[in-house]
Amino acid sequence: MKRVLLLLVFVAFAFIVMVPEASAKRWLVGDNMGWSSSYGVNYTNWAKGKHFYNGDWLFFVYDRNQMNVLEVNKTDYEKCNSDHPLHNWTTGAGRDVVPLNVTRNYYFISGKGFCFGGMKLAVHVENLPPPPKASPEVAGAPPALYSRSQVVLLPVVFAVGAAWDTFIHLW
Ligand SMILES: *[C@@H]1O[C@H](CO)[C@@H](O)[C@H](O)[C@H]1NC(C)=O
Ligand SMILES: *[C@@H]1O[C@H](CO)[C@@H](O)[C@H](O)[C@H]1NC(C)=O
Ligand SMILES: *[C@@H]1O[C@H](CO)[C@@H](O)[C@H](O)[C@H]1NC(C)=O
Ligand SMILES: *[C@@H]1O[C@H](CO)[C@@H](O)[C@H](O)[C@H]1NC(C)=O
Repeated sequence: MKRVLLLLVFVAFAFIVMVPEASAKRWLVGDNMGWSSSYGVNYTNWAKGKHFYNGDWLFFVYDRNQMNVLEVNKTDYEKCNSDHPLHNWTTGAGRDVVPLNVTRNYYFISGKGFCFGGMKLAVHVENLPPPPKASPEVAGAPPALYSRSQVVLLPVVFAVGAAWDTFIHLW
């Protein structure tokens, strides 16, 4: 009985946690290094293993007096050619947000020569995976939830459990 209760608490928690998880994400390009040539960030490696979904944003933070954010095609990305950008996302503040609202490949470079130093980013934007099926049992019958939904929810429960552990430790 205690296990069931614990599971229910986790599941309830999981649903609360999963809602913002499933929504659009704003990616800080280069994480805390930003869009820069100073730290030798390899933006190919930064993007590796990340899943960019339609509806996400890229957030470029950089020195507005030096760099810029230009969207180019694949050829110009490879050649670091900034002569005919598809889109100039530079607003002048050094903080530019690019909506990834089409499922395709995007290519960004910084002009002014910085691309040659490594300031180039390619991201593959995917369609959002279908949302997990909401189980009608959740509201009604705990035994059914325990037996039937357990398989589906178990990874989530583990993830939440791990997050919870971390939370407890940080507390
Ligand atoms: C990119 O644009 C350049 C110049 O407009 C063009 O020569 C090149 O073929 C384009 N490459 C692709 C992959 O579309
Ligand atoms: C991009 O737009 C910014 C702001 O409007 C402008 O200052 C800059 O010259 C443009 N850069 C290019 C390469 O078009
Ligand atoms: C994507 O966002 C850009 C910039 O806000 C906008 O111009 C374009 O119409 C949008 N495209 C789609 C398919 O929503
Ligand atoms: C980034 O790393 C990849 C290998 O992970 C390498 O192929 C690529 O040339 C590097 N890019 C730059 C700009 O150094």
